Amino acid sequence: MDLYLGLISGTSMDAIDAALVDFGTSPLSLVAASAAALDPTLKARITAVIESPEHASLDEIGQLDVAVAREFAASALGLLGRARLEPSAVAAIGSHGQTLRHRPDLPFPFTWQIGDPNALAELTGITVVGDFRRRDVAAGGQGAPLLPVFHDQVFRSEREDRVILNLGGIANITVLARGKEVSGFDTGPANRLLDAWILRHRGEAFDPHGAWAATGRCDPALLDRLLAEPYLALPPPKSTGRELFNLPWLLDKLGPEEQRPQDVQATLLEYTAATVADAVRRHAPAASLYACGGGAHNSALLAALARRLAPAPVATTAGLGLDPDYVEAIAFAWFARRTLKGLPSNAPSVTGARGARILGGVYRR
Ligand SMILES: Nc1ncnc2c1ncn2[C@@H]1O[C@H](COP(=O)(O)OP(=O)(O)OP(=O)(O)O)[C@@H](O)[C@H]1O
Ligand SMILES: [Mg+2]
Repeated sequence: MDLYLGLISGTSMDAIDAALVDFGTSPLSLVAASAAALDPTLKARITAVIESPEHASLDEIGQLDVAVAREFAASALGLLGRARLEPSAVAAIGSHGQTLRHRPDLPFPFTWQIGDPNALAELTGITVVGDFRRRDVAAGGQGAPLLPVFHDQVFRSEREDRVILNLGGIANITVLARGKEVSGFDTGPANRLLDAWILRHRGEAFDPHGAWAATGRCDPALLDRLLAEPYLALPPPKSTGRELFNLPWLLDKLGPEEQRPQDVQATLLEYTAATVADAVRRHAPAASLYACGGGAHNSALLAALARRLAPAPVATTAGLGLDPDYVEAIAFAWFARRTLKGLPSNAPSVTGARGARILGGVYRR
């Protein structure tokens, strides 16, 4: 056994995903996994800092840094307990943390994930690799998406060109075209706006299977306004986050006319499908598409994508042997292993960094 544990809480903050991965087998095997809901009070405090940073205090950010580490530690230890394994069985934890802010395009570029790796190492007794994105940003890269290098390792095929589509808060694609270097970028929102809109109108955290969206009708004029967002036309490398695609951004696009909320939801779903399909058509026409992330459960969204990409096939990474819910957490276990082995794990062809870099800091147990 060659065990590593990956931890991530994504932009949606729906859960802390944990994956215990054995790299001693070929292909790697997922030994155990869990998705633990983030404590609602903690989630509300983090949301407040992200959405109203002008009201956030330094003390509050410091508290959140440690509070997130504690939740991550509880997830890791809970998973090990269920797998009946001691912390000493795990070589390292790869912890993404929780993104507070992603600003790779400011004059002094930065990206900021909290969940203090020092506290995580103390609380678990396991070596932690954390802070994966900032070295790539320091090297002139976007620091995102990081997943394409991992996708390249596990999903590349000699038989077909593939696109791996991660449908988290934000959507990102990885292009695995035969005979070509890996490429990829954030295409725009995946679930972020869908989640924000259904929360506002129905008090629900997300729209299961896109069922509410399916009761509405796409508004072509609104869709056009959303598609006019300049980010979409930028050439890669590029990455984005909830700094751009958020509720105020959407409200600004809605305009004065009355719209049925379910029609806006249907339009947002088409918006995700249209921006992804456009990116795929431009960068990998005819590739087979495999989705992962929570949005892979949104059957209405996958159907909209399949309509736009036909006749290219649309499926999930389950068909390639990896559970779509845990691809990201598995990837951070893999990143931790790379770092401990002194291997780089960014892709300059994706992030635009000046070169390959060993990512993350190591916090020994
Ligand atoms: N059954 C479902 N039907 C529709 N949408 C779903 C379903 N299950 C999950 N989702 C969506 O997936 C989201 C969570 O996905 P995921 O965990 O991949 O995103 P994330 O945490 O933002 O990750 P990241 O931003 O790092 O990619 C939820 O907020 C929800 O919108
Ligand atoms: Mg998540």
